[in-house]
Amino acid sequence: MDIQVSSKALQDIVCDALVVGAVRSKSAQNINGVVLSEMAIEADNLLDGLLKEICADGAFKGNLGELTTVYTMGRMAAKRVLLVGLGSIDALSAQALRRASAISSRHLQHTGARDIALALAQHGAAVATDAGAQAQVEGALLGLYTFKKYQHADDKDEEQGVEKVWLAAGKGNTGGLTEAIRRGSALAEATNFARDLINEPPNILTPTELANRSGAMASQFGLECEILDRPQMQELGMGGLLAVSQGSAEPPKFIILRYRAATKSTAKGMALVGKGITFDTGGISLKPAERMDEMKGDMAGAAAVIGAMQAIASLKPAVNVTALVSTTENMPGGTSYRPGDILRIMNGKTIEIVNTDAEGRLVLADALSYAAKEGLSPIIDVATLTGAVVVALGNTMAGLFSNDTVLSEEIVAAGKAVGEKFWPMPMDEDYGEQIKSEIADIKQTGGRAAGSVTAAKILEHFVGDAKWAHLDIAGTSYVDSKKPHQEKGATGMAVRTLAELASRMDQ
Ligand code: BES
Ligand code: MN
Ligand code: ZN
Repeated sequence: MDIQVSSKALQDIVCDALVVGAVRSKSAQNINGVVLSEMAIEADNLLDGLLKEICADGAFKGNLGELTTVYTMGRMAAKRVLLVGLGSIDALSAQALRRASAISSRHLQHTGARDIALALAQHGAAVATDAGAQAQVEGALLGLYTFKKYQHADDKDEEQGVEKVWLAAGKGNTGGLTEAIRRGSALAEATNFARDLINEPPNILTPTELANRSGAMASQFGLECEILDRPQMQELGMGGLLAVSQGSAEPPKFIILRYRAATKSTAKGMALVGKGITFDTGGISLKPAERMDEMKGDMAGAAAVIGAMQAIASLKPAVNVTALVSTTENMPGGTSYRPGDILRIMNGKTIEIVNTDAEGRLVLADALSYAAKEGLSPIIDVATLTGAVVVALGNTMAGLFSNDTVLSEEIVAAGKAVGEKFWPMPMDEDYGEQIKSEIADIKQTGGRAAGSVTAAKILEHFVGDAKWAHLDIAGTSYVDSKKPHQEKGATGMAVRTLAELASRMDQ
């Protein structure tokens, strides 16, 4: 996508649609509860008060994502003005700008607009100029994302959509925003890369293909990449990943990506661990047919850490980060692992299998053991791990489980900055009772009660002394219907939080 700063006066920006914002507020200048931004007032003056009239009439209330289009009829160089609501002034944040930008861009995508100009910044308001610029760019690129590569466009002309985004900086304001555009683009492109990996069908995105695409990204962005195959997994004793893969005709892969840029510290750096089940049938404990197709997204944790590595490689914080991804299918068959099996994980601990559909914790156990053995800390794993987290938190927040309160708070804060929500869940030792086995070190599942917590308690056995956090994104990685700000399918959840966290570690 072509994104550029425009330092022209608002009336001179040549484009198909100019997007301006307004908040809900009771402050002195409000018109029927709406306060237009500076740029919206400028547009309104050129349009002889048309926007104010619409607000006064009650046709536009300023709610987040609310849209009203007016045609300029030659009064401005822009063909039309799109007024977008930014929500209550008290909640005005980078996230509100990001969301409003995504909704307006996405709306314009199918209305024949090719060149659009974003002028949502609120001068002298809650959001700093560069943060506001970054949020608008990020929002636009996230909102314009589509996954249509397997579909013929009926009408190529109409489907062309938005090709160019101007960021209106105000007359004469040139410098300063280039870096904001670069950051916003890097974060959104990495998120969209993760979305592509998740949206790919499972016949295309096999473990081998996930490894290939990780390798291609690594060479493009200057990361080290190493792919382990079955013989190396056997040597390392990765009994979890090997067992889950044994029912599949596709070979498993263990993907290692390294980013090294720490200057002063001698610490090994952070590990990002991802669950990469490219298709989860449940195995011998077969899932019901309904919505099983969505289990192509069971590698969203892997996609999140691979996407985050791309973002980190673009943003270049002075830290060390290693990504570790266990990837395989979980298939039923004559060679599948079984309920009743006892597996030995890389760190030596044994697990009694009771349900082959609880495969994620097994492949993560090996990757966490690998991270702990390398002395990496903190370790953050990302996984579509349990249906139970969807019951607990729905599609709004991801579950956050950690053995370190500070790390947990840092993740919540990083998430808040980028507009991704994580909710801290308990790790009380009494939950450990549910996963005690009579014949192995641990039992694989702890029953229906607190299912997302007991899954996290299993993972905890494999992190050694490292600071560790587990993000269960089963409910937040995928939307099953289209939204105003994004299409049906992968969300790219956690990519930007992890990248933000790495940036914050560079002090
Ligand atoms: N991949 C699923 C979890 C999942 C559910 C992801 C819904 C996305 C949406 C995971 O492998 C799984 O099947 N978990 C089981 C565990 C149970 C057998 C202990 C579950 O949550 O039912
Ligand atoms: Mn499963
Ligand atoms: Zn799974």
